[in-house]
Amino acid sequence: MAQLDLTGRHALVTGGAQGLGEGMARALAAAGASVVVADLQDDLGPEVAESLGHRSGFVHLDVTDDANWAAATDQATGIMGGLDIVVNNAGIEITSLIVDLDPAAVRKQLEVNLLGTALGIKHAFRAMRPGGPAGTGGVVINVASVAATIAFPGIAVYSATKSGVDRLTRVAAMESGKLGYGVRVNCLYPGLVPTAMGAGLADDVARLGLFGSPEEAVGAVVELTPSGRLGEVTDMADAVVFLASDAARFINGAGLPVDGGMGM
Ligand SMILES: NC(=O)c1ccc[n+]([C@@H]2O[C@H](COP(=O)([O-])OP(=O)(O)OC[C@H]3O[C@@H](n4cnc5c(N)ncnc54)[C@H](O)[C@@H]3O)[C@@H](O)[C@H]2O)c1
Repeated sequence: MAQLDLTGRHALVTGGAQGLGEGMARALAAAGASVVVADLQDDLGPEVAESLGHRSGFVHLDVTDDANWAAATDQATGIMGGLDIVVNNAGIEITSLIVDLDPAAVRKQLEVNLLGTALGIKHAFRAMRPGGPAGTGGVVINVASVAATIAFPGIAVYSATKSGVDRLTRVAAMESGKLGYGVRVNCLYPGLVPTAMGAGLADDVARLGLFGSPEEAVGAVVELTPSGRLGEVTDMADAVVFLASDAARFINGAGLPVDGGMGM
């Protein structure tokens, strides 16, 4: 479909050094976009960026740091000659029963998942709105989770941060529209994908005694999923390409489940 062609677009993907973010960066590049990978990982990130080809690059970014965001969006705009797609994908998950919550782990998840996404929207808007250094509008895609739509044990705080990402998305879309920024804002609710994070979660909920084994935890997720399997990186990456593209031009302030039906 020609409308999925992202030739001439310029994308920044946070957490793009591995996992879902890497897959999203690769899919956006394959659709024709220039892509900047933005991540904490100064070893893996440049390797991924290098493999993406012409006018792509890596910028170091801690999504919890406001000044770092300002520098990263400037750098990315310079590297690519524009910025019109920002994917706020970076996130962390620290599994815990509520009775055992560690305030430091709660704060860390709030900072990366919620503050990091809020700052990502802020700096995307500043760059893309009329008069900004990129200035031609665009698209923001926030990565929430199926965890924002179901009650899975062991991930209460993570789930709460992802519900927050969902709400940030709606208000951001409204502000962008009201203030004429020309930026669509949507979010994605991925189902469980066996990346480092997804596989770690299955191990953790088994360790906490919520399931007999990691395999049993995975089996329970598959059982809840009408499509009858776990998610794959490309499932999420293709959805990001769609939301970034003109095929999604009238989709705004929405949350797209990409979970095989698990969260319905
Ligand atoms: N894997 C799943 O099952 C799943 C399901 C639903 C949602 N998600 C969400 O998808 C996103 C990607 O998950 P993943 O499975 O690829 O995880 P992952 O742990 O494999 O990768 C996360 C990436 O984010 C980067 N990162 C972490 N903190 C950062 C920070 N402060 N600043 C910049 N980069 C940072 C890491 O370096 C890493 O490259 C996350 O937001 C996650 O919550 C994942």
